[in-house]
Amino acid sequence: MNPEKIDQFAQQLLTAVTGAATTAMIVVGDRLGLYRGLAAGPATPAELAARTGTAERYVREWLSQQAAAGFVEYRPQTQRFALSDEVAAVLADPESPVFMAGSATLAHGWFAGIDQLVTAFRTGEGIPWHMQHPAVFEGTERFFRTGYAASLTSDWIPALSGIAENLAGAVIADIGCGHGAASVLLAQAFPEAEVRGFDFHPESIGVARKRAAEAGVSDRVRFEVAGAADYPADGYTLICLLDTLHDLGDPEAALVHARRVLAPNGAVLVVEPHAEDDFAANIANPMAALSYTGSTFQCVPASLSQPGAAALGAQAGPKAVTRLAASAGFSTCRLVSQTPVNGVFELRR
Ligand SMILES: C[S@@+](CC[C@H](N)C(=O)[O-])C[C@H]1O[C@@H](n2cnc3c(N)ncnc32)[C@H](O)[C@@H]1O
Repeated sequence: MNPEKIDQFAQQLLTAVTGAATTAMIVVGDRLGLYRGLAAGPATPAELAARTGTAERYVREWLSQQAAAGFVEYRPQTQRFALSDEVAAVLADPESPVFMAGSATLAHGWFAGIDQLVTAFRTGEGIPWHMQHPAVFEGTERFFRTGYAASLTSDWIPALSGIAENLAGAVIADIGCGHGAASVLLAQAFPEAEVRGFDFHPESIGVARKRAAEAGVSDRVRFEVAGAADYPADGYTLICLLDTLHDLGDPEAALVHARRVLAPNGAVLVVEPHAEDDFAANIANPMAALSYTGSTFQCVPASLSQPGAAALGAQAGPKAVTRLAASAGFSTCRLVSQTPVNGVFELRR
């Protein structure tokens, strides 16, 4: 036993646990609008409580923790707390290109699901998607939306050859659309296309319809409850599987179906979490520990609960996607773009 290494690891553990504690505090601040309230200007606990309709004593404790965590600045001269513009961009503004509060929402959902996951480890059974805590659905929507808003219609679709310029009058399908974040962005970016979102989770389809109405695009985006391998054929020019393929019990059947219902010149866009094929290289990526957690809590159990039970996992890597595309009969599977969060593939018939 090397005492120095014990010290180092104890520090590493404390950093991890403090991160989890701070994550719980982010969820509280996010839900109560405390970050948005503080983004309006420096405040004492009483001022922030008044701005957000909350109780001063609780807000004082929350602000103290956030100052200790380095998220907010404490100004002793005025006894006020302040949020920098940069932190506000990450935590207070859902429309910002760097908004990341959704990652804490996801963590909330994972903690709430620990008991059922522990049971699943013992039985080996899956956990159907609808059994997850609602924070998992909401966290998935909020976490991935930031990347979609930044890249889906401006980078990823233009990277597919001959697709962006042919979407007027075309039909686009969003498979496993969840709360419909991407479908709404597609409808906004391509107003002359018809967008159809499919998901087998009825509650998610209900939320997606609400999101489309709020965004004023209900006239050109329709949501229906349907499975990834049996949604209706419609000569789709673009079929999107966004952070969904690895959640499916039978991802190959979903790609076979996509190939069957795709227009002759159409493309399938598969967006998966960023991963390397080589395991050692993959775990060196700082995002991998987060991704494997999501995979353990949501993706592997979702897939294991469905016929096929392929359980690809969220970190399967480009080779696994390429193999699946080839088995489903696609002639090409090309990695067209990569971000620290996502790998983006184009599949052609
Ligand atoms: C990780 S979420 C991604 C949601 C959405 N694409 C997004 O990025 O926000 C995966 C989605 O796939 C859906 N799903 C899982 N298995 C499915 C299946 N066999 N058929 C249809 N949808 C499925 C789930 O209900 C969930 O909404």
